Amino acid sequence: MPDKIARFTRHKLWLAPLAGFTDNAFRTICKECGADVVVSEMISADGLIFNREKSLAYAQFDEIQRPFAIQLFGAEAEIMQKGAEIALQENPDILDINMGCPMKKVIKKGAGSALMQNPEEAEKIVQAVKRVIEKADIPLSVKIRAGWNKFSINAVDFGKRMEQAGADMICLHPRTRSQMFAGQSDWQLITELKKSVKIPVIGNGDIKDIDSAKQMFEQTGCDSIMIGRGILGNPWLFRTIKTYLETGELTDVDPEEKTRLIRKHIDLTWQEKGAERAIIELRSHFANYTKGFRGGAKVRNYINHCFDPDDIFELIKNLYLGQMKNG
Ligand SMILES: Cc1cc2nc3c(=O)[nH]c(=O)nc-3n(C[C@H](O)[C@H](O)[C@H](O)COP(=O)(O)O)c2cc1C
Repeated sequence: MPDKIARFTRHKLWLAPLAGFTDNAFRTICKECGADVVVSEMISADGLIFNREKSLAYAQFDEIQRPFAIQLFGAEAEIMQKGAEIALQENPDILDINMGCPMKKVIKKGAGSALMQNPEEAEKIVQAVKRVIEKADIPLSVKIRAGWNKFSINAVDFGKRMEQAGADMICLHPRTRSQMFAGQSDWQLITELKKSVKIPVIGNGDIKDIDSAKQMFEQTGCDSIMIGRGILGNPWLFRTIKTYLETGELTDVDPEEKTRLIRKHIDLTWQEKGAERAIIELRSHFANYTKGFRGGAKVRNYINHCFDPDDIFELIKNLYLGQMKNG
């Protein structure tokens, strides 16, 4: 097991779980761009028990994505234990527990970041899930926040408790639940957590380019980094960060390669979900892919009313290749 944990966490680039974005197709694209570890969107343990087929679909992945983590959320140890048993059918490499989600519908049930206010139940969850996954010989990670609000920042103590309960690695997104996704994440908490636990720490929050990736490693001493919003519309960021970390070279991905990856993203989603559903689900990705281009707003407006994947791709391609011609 220690070998496995090191293989997943020693100076690695993780793709953050982003509900509504990091589905099977997008994870494959991120993997091709250099993500080392990818994580499913959060999956309800209750859903796995009571609506198995639909929920299990979120846990499925292509082999190319390994190492692959399934992320579960839930409020009670017994439910999480059963959910973990079901999730293991998909044979993931890591099981992750969500203790950071700030959304109302999750916290009102006592799950996600609400668990940071209930460390006793969080410990029971870790112990129960650990018992299940030990048999499968895969590590358990826990994804946490800074705390509930600025008056109850407990990431370091809470992280230590999760380590003692059996977590094999911890990912910290150092914003409080009250902050949701606003303001700056407090990387100092990652530094403190890293000094306080023996298990690997994955630093997350506001990594958006090569500089911030480098700084996250250097400033916090974290073992691995996790990138979320920074890769939306920009999955090739993994490639440029990886090249930099491995060679010190600052590189860019050329527009032809970017459009090839976008085409592949469309095709994979199309194959998996059918044309109509693919287009609806890809709209937010299209908005991200066209951000920052002159003429991008016009293209986005068209895309929002168009159901032909080929037409949409042609427009995006013209944006990327036209931009190149204009310099
Ligand atoms: C649209 C969206 C969906 C998210 N979904 C999840 C999720 O399913 N599970 C989770 O643990 N975190 C989720 N997060 C939080 C991210 O994984 C990450 O911790 C956060 O965005 C901070 O990292 P970043 O600054 O790199 O984006 C989500 C964030 C966003 C913006």
